[in-house]
Amino acid sequence: MESLGGPDFGKGVPIDGLPDGGMIQGKVGGTDVVLVRRGGEFFAVGASCPHYGGPLVQGLVLGDELRCPLHHACFSLRTGEALRAPAFDAIPCWRVERIGENVFVREQLPVPIRKQTPGSVESQKHPASVVIIGGGAAGLAAADMLRREGYDKPVTIISADDSAPYDRPNLSKDYLAGTAPDEWIPLRSPDFYAERHIDLVLNSRVASLDAKQKRIQLEHGKTYDFGALLLATGADPVKLPVPGASDSQFHYLRTFADSRTLAQKAASATQVVVVGASFIALEVAASLRARGVAVHVVAPEQQPLVGVMGPEVGRFIRGLHEAQGVVFHLGETVTRVDRRNTTLSGGVVLDADFLVLGVGVQPSLALAEQAGLRVDRGIVVDEYLETSAPGIFAAGDIARWPDPYSGGLVRIEHWVVAQRQGQVAARNILGRRERFAAVPFFWTQQYDVSIKYVGHAEKWDAVDINGSLEAKDCSVTYKLAGRTLAVATISRDLENLQVEAAMEASIQARSTVSPAGSEISRRTA
Ligand SMILES: Cc1cc2nc3c(=O)[nH]c(=O)nc-3n(C[C@H](O)[C@H](O)[C@H](O)COP(=O)(O)OP(=O)(O)OC[C@H]3O[C@@H](n4cnc5c(N)ncnc54)[C@H](O)[C@@H]3O)c2cc1C
Ligand code: FES
Repeated sequence: MESLGGPDFGKGVPIDGLPDGGMIQGKVGGTDVVLVRRGGEFFAVGASCPHYGGPLVQGLVLGDELRCPLHHACFSLRTGEALRAPAFDAIPCWRVERIGENVFVREQLPVPIRKQTPGSVESQKHPASVVIIGGGAAGLAAADMLRREGYDKPVTIISADDSAPYDRPNLSKDYLAGTAPDEWIPLRSPDFYAERHIDLVLNSRVASLDAKQKRIQLEHGKTYDFGALLLATGADPVKLPVPGASDSQFHYLRTFADSRTLAQKAASATQVVVVGASFIALEVAASLRARGVAVHVVAPEQQPLVGVMGPEVGRFIRGLHEAQGVVFHLGETVTRVDRRNTTLSGGVVLDADFLVLGVGVQPSLALAEQAGLRVDRGIVVDEYLETSAPGIFAAGDIARWPDPYSGGLVRIEHWVVAQRQGQVAARNILGRRERFAAVPFFWTQQYDVSIKYVGHAEKWDAVDINGSLEAKDCSVTYKLAGRTLAVATISRDLENLQVEAAMEASIQARSTVSPAGSEISRRTA
């Protein structure tokens, strides 16, 4: 890999230094640029991912796409477009000229504008309006994609939240740790909604859905008719009743407001009890430690995250937190709270300024149930993310969809999955009939360790560890009957991208092209 800075591409670089599929970082003028070779073609694109500045030169080139090593955003090498979340903004592109055995990066290319074709056969099939219920990951991604695809009729996002769509994963990480300012949290500026004519209705909870009349009603009575609807209502934290605890002592973390409250209270706290050893609970523990607050984690399992990542990773995570001073009370529950005293099932009494509960979430299914949509531990959708009611789609934490890799119906609570489902649902609302076939991906950040996880394993019979957890450099493969279901990596971001690509290829291989070549039919496993 080229060092930061790198060659001046304006002066030309020899092509024999760049193998097929390879890339190097250099400069054009004062700007960092990545030069990519694909066969006989060369592409020059911006070096930094617009999501969180990931170094694209450390990513993966796959066909005409470049994928970011940090959270797997995917960009077109030809246009720079952010094809798949979590990035939404395009990366810049430059013209590349080959002269003899050298390539030269020339001027920056204008951002291509997709041609809108009002009145086209395709646009005549578009719904008269789209209403999106939920201003979170899936909802915003869908609205953005509708406009990117040239949909020019009304788009309304209705959100119970009082904040415009924001970066939820950051709420338990840098924002709570005090290292990310407020300005980082909104996903889009107010101008974005105005320029794209997206009507963002905040602080408004939808109380009922009439699937036949294609109408929704807000709690305060206002109604909206829709041509197509996207349900993206996410999930709510599981509430844990504990005798003696008052509301002001108990905190859950789902919203920006929750995180702001926690950050304010943490500023004057000395000791906090975190209940649960979920990802969110552990990220909260790490962020509170970053603020110098003493943290006790109380959870019924024998190792943190054992059900999701197995005992080896669980032990490692526990050691990571203990090295930072976190005290675990595993195999225990909270039985009573009496002012500052938190009593555990084993009899220990902990002093705490407040408690944070991270014991899981449950999908927000009330609207779907009331409307009579098919619900089975999530809103059941087909491969196009359409619910049992035509014209009504669902995406994100609430959707249970046929996952082509595992072959089963799954419901997954990952940021990137929700955003990508929002994007695919938007295209399907416009009649594209695109299957949702992305391989699930998530990440967690605790102290200096970032774990990337690709695939989905609810149960497994073998865990292979390649490398060393202690050295924070490894990949952990979860297998069932010899088949890889999921891989978690630490400090091996490229490998994680490669696993994602291999899983996608396996999905493709299990699909067959019909003799006419016009339609794809899926073989049952
Ligand atoms: C603190 C935290 C950290 C996380 N970190 C990560 C991470 O590091 N990596 C990762 O992959 N995932 C992470 N997640 C999970 C990820 O944020 C979710 O999977 C994702 O937000 C789901 O997106 P969604 O669009 O389905 O729902 P949400 O983003 O929750 O959005 C749901 C929206 O629906 C609105 N709503 C609900 N009911 C109604 C109603 N009746 N009427 C109107 N509006 C309604 C809500 O107000 C909200 O705006 C984290 C979650 C939390 C809470
Ligand atoms: S920094 Fe590139 S996807 Fe997050």
